[in-house]
Amino acid sequence: MSDSALSHTRLLGSLFGLLQVASLLSLLLLLFKALQFYLQRQWLLKAFQQFPSPPSHWFFGHKVKNDQELQEILSRVEKFPSACPLWLWGSKARLVVYDPDYMKVILGRSDPKAHGTYKFVAPWIGYGLLLLNGQTWFQHRRMLTPAFHYDILKPYVGIMVDSIQVMLDQWEKLSIQDNSLEIFEHISLMTLDTIMKCAFGQQECIQVNRKSKAYIQAIRDLNNLVFARMRNVFHQNDVIYSLTSNGRTYHHACQLAHEHTDKVINQRKAQLQDEGELEKVKMKRRLDFLDILLFAKMEDGSSLSDKDLRAEVDTFMFEGHDTTASGISWILYTLATHPEHQQKCREEVQSLLGNGASVTWEILDKMAYTTMCVKEALRLYTPVPLVSRELSKPVTFPDGRSLPKGVIVTLSFYSLHHNPKVWPNPEVFDPFRFAPDSSRHSHSFLPFSGGSRNCIGKQFAMNEMKVAVALTLLRFELLPDPTRVPILIPRLVLKSKNGIHLRLRKLS
Ligand code: HEM
Repeated sequence: MSDSALSHTRLLGSLFGLLQVASLLSLLLLLFKALQFYLQRQWLLKAFQQFPSPPSHWFFGHKVKNDQELQEILSRVEKFPSACPLWLWGSKARLVVYDPDYMKVILGRSDPKAHGTYKFVAPWIGYGLLLLNGQTWFQHRRMLTPAFHYDILKPYVGIMVDSIQVMLDQWEKLSIQDNSLEIFEHISLMTLDTIMKCAFGQQECIQVNRKSKAYIQAIRDLNNLVFARMRNVFHQNDVIYSLTSNGRTYHHACQLAHEHTDKVINQRKAQLQDEGELEKVKMKRRLDFLDILLFAKMEDGSSLSDKDLRAEVDTFMFEGHDTTASGISWILYTLATHPEHQQKCREEVQSLLGNGASVTWEILDKMAYTTMCVKEALRLYTPVPLVSRELSKPVTFPDGRSLPKGVIVTLSFYSLHHNPKVWPNPEVFDPFRFAPDSSRHSHSFLPFSGGSRNCIGKQFAMNEMKVAVALTLLRFELLPDPTRVPILIPRLVLKSKNGIHLRLRKLS
């Protein structure tokens, strides 16, 4: 045999050897993964033995039809009291709870955010207040709480009024009697404009800016992509996910979102290079949000890294506008579908504001009926439908059922708010549930969650929602569009698959 034929045979031999090793390793990996799957499944089955649930497939878990998640969960609320396991696939499940006593137990503890769920949000908003845990969370919460002090929030009411009027001016130009308008995008731009001015000291109005629209669209994509990834067994691994088209879209949307927040940080940093501006900030009795972050860094370089600063800005930019956009859009939709309550709110607002020239903090406090309607809309259309925790120690609920450490518990605020044992006739819009003399369980109404990790922006959000409702009702009569009824989809924030369409009739 010639030399070249010999080396050919040797090459083929070693290739064959390599292939054999690779196949053996793949087989071992597969066996290991199968064993992991089996053990995890057995552990979960044991953990949930006291909690019955509808039958599920051993591999695919509970099959939930696209866009039917909320109906699916609600169908369980009546059949399975207090809580029910949801199997995402054969080795991943969580206990979904919708009972006030269960909520009270979990929110009274300090379990961390469920890593397996929230890690998919981290490349986008980073580890800011929403995702942090333990001592670092505590330090950040203490540092940022002054940014939501009454003295800081009070002048924001004026900024909110201006942003909302810009939006309503546009609506006036756009609304042709019988054509309906998709309001969610408009409201998102308005709430983004408001948070940029209030928390990040921006001067210009961004509601007509194309770049801001790109940010809003990126947030919409990120909401959808994160939700889809959480439910896809094949998209859990970062490397595999980055090779998929969803993974690439996610990466691109994150880049867009980061460009937006980087611009805000860099602009403010540049302004603070100017000594006059620096002096002005130092003279302020209370610093606003971005100043607190920048100064925490300036005074103690080690306390807030650039990465931490970016994470907080990304977190507040998202939380500060998408949640309130959802809240305001659904409230307006609810009022459009309940004209008698809409009219009562309008009369209350007219009696307090006349022509709407001077909305103040004090007046917002006097809008009793409107506030009841806002709360009832938050109950029916809960902007943050659910949150999740990972048990750091075992728990026993008041009915004696228990769970071991490590289980993921999902607090479904949406299901709590639609639980007929807690709210009789839950689908009926009845603002008198929130009448001042009404009584209810301390944990039956939780749009802003509860306990130490409740929403830091609650007061800001309530003000913005009330200002938006008041000013809108002074200028428009709201009517639903029966041809485009919203299809509710739970994402990080409650959205509608086909948008939220309203008919607007200008009031004379
Ligand atoms: C209608 C509007 C809003 C609703 C329904 C809402 C709801 C919530 C809920 C349910 C949580 C708990 C999340 C969890 O436990 O995982 C939360 C946390 C949070 N919210 Fe809001 N939110 C709203 C508006 C805002 C606004 C306007 C801001 C900022 C200006 C904000 C900033 C935050 C932050 C930073 C957290 C994390 C707090 C922590 O863990 O310490 N939210 N929000």
